[in-house]
Amino acid sequence: MPFKISDTVTWVGKIDWELRTFHGEEYSTHKGSSYNSYLIKDEKTVLIDTVWQPFSKEFVTNLKKEIDLNKIDYIIMNHSESDHSGALVDLMKEIPNTPIYCTKGGVKILKGHYHKDWNFVEVKTGDTLDIGRNKLTFVEAKMLHWPDTMFTYLSGENILFSNDAFGQHYASELMYNDKVDQAELFQEAIKYYANILTPFSKFVVKKIEEVLSFNLPVNMICPSHGIIWRDNPLQIVNKYMEWAKDYQENQITIIYDTMWNGTRRMAEAITEGIKSLNKDITIKIFNSSKSDKNDIITEVFKSKIVLVGSSTINKGILSSTAATLEMIKGLEFKGKKAVAFGSYGWSGESIKIIREELIKAGFEIINEGIRELWNPDEDGLNRCRDLGKDVLEKI
Ligand code: FEO
Repeated sequence: MPFKISDTVTWVGKIDWELRTFHGEEYSTHKGSSYNSYLIKDEKTVLIDTVWQPFSKEFVTNLKKEIDLNKIDYIIMNHSESDHSGALVDLMKEIPNTPIYCTKGGVKILKGHYHKDWNFVEVKTGDTLDIGRNKLTFVEAKMLHWPDTMFTYLSGENILFSNDAFGQHYASELMYNDKVDQAELFQEAIKYYANILTPFSKFVVKKIEEVLSFNLPVNMICPSHGIIWRDNPLQIVNKYMEWAKDYQENQITIIYDTMWNGTRRMAEAITEGIKSLNKDITIKIFNSSKSDKNDIITEVFKSKIVLVGSSTINKGILSSTAATLEMIKGLEFKGKKAVAFGSYGWSGESIKIIREELIKAGFEIINEGIRELWNPDEDGLNRCRDLGKDVLEKI
């Protein structure tokens, strides 16, 4: 249902309550998501972004109830990824000549996805579009999180349309940041940052500093997923600045996989060692084969130290450990420390492989790690407890 959010702007997107994975199977969306599209009715009529293709027909039908499609003067595509551009094909069948404003990168990606020669208008930072009482200003936001991404600022009503930045995969009919459960909201916002934006943190800092230097008033930030920030909207901008600067909490995360519980017992003994010296530090423990991978990544994002454990199997490591390490490597975390551990039966390569992967991922190895033969006995568990103490001393 369309939802008026200011004098001229109406939300015309789609709340997707059913969504449980995004980017294929790469991102878990426990709380669904939304694809936010915004219609501005000033002297000119402007549509900002669309929705994902499965909701394309529904989107166009609902939009027709809100506006005669022929009255849309401009379409702004802040970002070309399919979750925002998917409905363009059906929409452009109805209004094929309507200009689509996007970055140079946006033109390439939209052509690459849909192979259509639509009426593209390339824009860059500082370009403006007068639409009547209000004016639109475009700000390229390259690599937040794709090369084509841009923000659009509506002066007059002082609304920043930020696309993915400041978004959350969070379905809610409540629409606004001040109305939803704050713990849920910030959990989804930090998970989104950790899993999607971490590799682009240096671009995040530069872009936020640039936008803040314009001293523009911001009454609302309207992202393309989740709720709209209207109560103290800059709070999420400030959070992004914290998160982008090698964010850490007082936390250690232990991730393991295990065949016959030897590596699990090692993980628990390491935890005992840490707790024997410091009862206040947060320790989070995950069996990577039984836990949500994106929730693990969110906890890695918060951690000072990460311990990764796997049994040795076929001279290698368990598949869930390999998958977790691959995700960690891609996200290019900075300023974090790590240690490997694992049980083995005869060849015992796992800790060497994990250590090498953690080094490739940019972690500082603070202890050579520990491997225990078969199921660790009390001496073995004490060695793990000592490892936990050593780790804590090197925090
Ligand atoms: Fe929500 Fe990068 O698309």
